[in-house]
Amino acid sequence: MAGKVMHAVQYDSYGSRAAGLKHVEVPVPTPKKDEVLLKVEATSINPIDWKIQKGMLRPLLPTKFPFIPTIDVGGGVVEVGSNVKSFKAGDKVVAMLNALNGGGLAEYAVANESLTVSRPVEVSAAEGAGLVIAGLTALQALVNAAEVKLEGTGQQKNILVTAASGGVGHYAVQLAKLVIHCTEGIPWSTFEPNLSSSGKVIDITPGVSAMWTFAVKKLTFSKKQLVLLVLIPKKENLELIVELVKEGKLKTVIDSKFPLSKAEDAWSKSSDGHATGKIVVEP
Ligand SMILES: NC(=O)c1ccc[n+]([C@@H]2O[C@H](COP(=O)([O-])OP(=O)(O)OC[C@H]3O[C@@H](n4cnc5c(N)ncnc54)[C@H](OP(=O)(O)O)[C@@H]3O)[C@@H](O)[C@H]2O)c1
Repeated sequence: MAGKVMHAVQYDSYGSRAAGLKHVEVPVPTPKKDEVLLKVEATSINPIDWKIQKGMLRPLLPTKFPFIPTIDVGGGVVEVGSNVKSFKAGDKVVAMLNALNGGGLAEYAVANESLTVSRPVEVSAAEGAGLVIAGLTALQALVNAAEVKLEGTGQQKNILVTAASGGVGHYAVQLAKLVIHCTEGIPWSTFEPNLSSSGKVIDITPGVSAMWTFAVKKLTFSKKQLVLLVLIPKKENLELIVELVKEGKLKTVIDSKFPLSKAEDAWSKSSDGHATGKIVVEP
């Protein structure tokens, strides 16, 4: 694909919201030795995508302007790097792109083999693209932070999922039972009186006040805990949730789909913060 150009959507400054997204023609990326080149069939937008554009992770992200956002992709392999062993051209996959590079709002994108998994025919590109950040976060919150066993063994636990209609929340309610806190702005004081004596709040949107509460609870050896969660993506977890979708045990609810030519509408819809399930863009 060297020398070919593709359609992509990028922004070149902080804070400009959907109006800052620009439609451009750029070179198709070339996969490095551990990477696969994907034809993007679907990408999903996560709040972190527009938070990066707002400048909430500056100076870490984006690493450079212009920046092509989104990292959740469902698509097909077009080319593989010289070290790639598990994939060949034509394979259908779900991938998490490198967060430093982004690249999902485009016709083609490169993904590292280490965060690319096979996509069975039962899982559409949109369903797979929806799963990546949101599904992995829901799984990590349940299995690692809340210590729930998906197979149903172990201690029974009561779980409350806040923002249960959103991207993370709708996967979390399907995967489980503790408290999984998926939205901003609900303080610890709202949860604490309702928690069991050794209950946990798992906060996937930790702000300054949550960090303070976390420190106080640790220092006072409180049995009621606040757990601050940041996604650590793992290939085996992505394989597990793709398999659960294949088996019909987990569903991606699609809030809405937009063509790449209307990516700014998808961006605005996600920034409004009231999606029911996942917002998907299809090149
Ligand atoms: N820590 C991590 O690694 C990690 C990973 C993934 C996501 N996150 C964060 O988790 C949050 C949720 O992500 P998402 O992908 O699920 O977002 P999303 O798909 O945009 O869903 C937003 C959800 O929040 C609810 N909501 C909005 N305002 C609310 C309010 N004032 N009170 C209660 N609920 C409210 C919405 O419900 P209504 O429509 O009913 O308002 C909707 O269910 C985001 O802040 C995201 O950045 C963190």
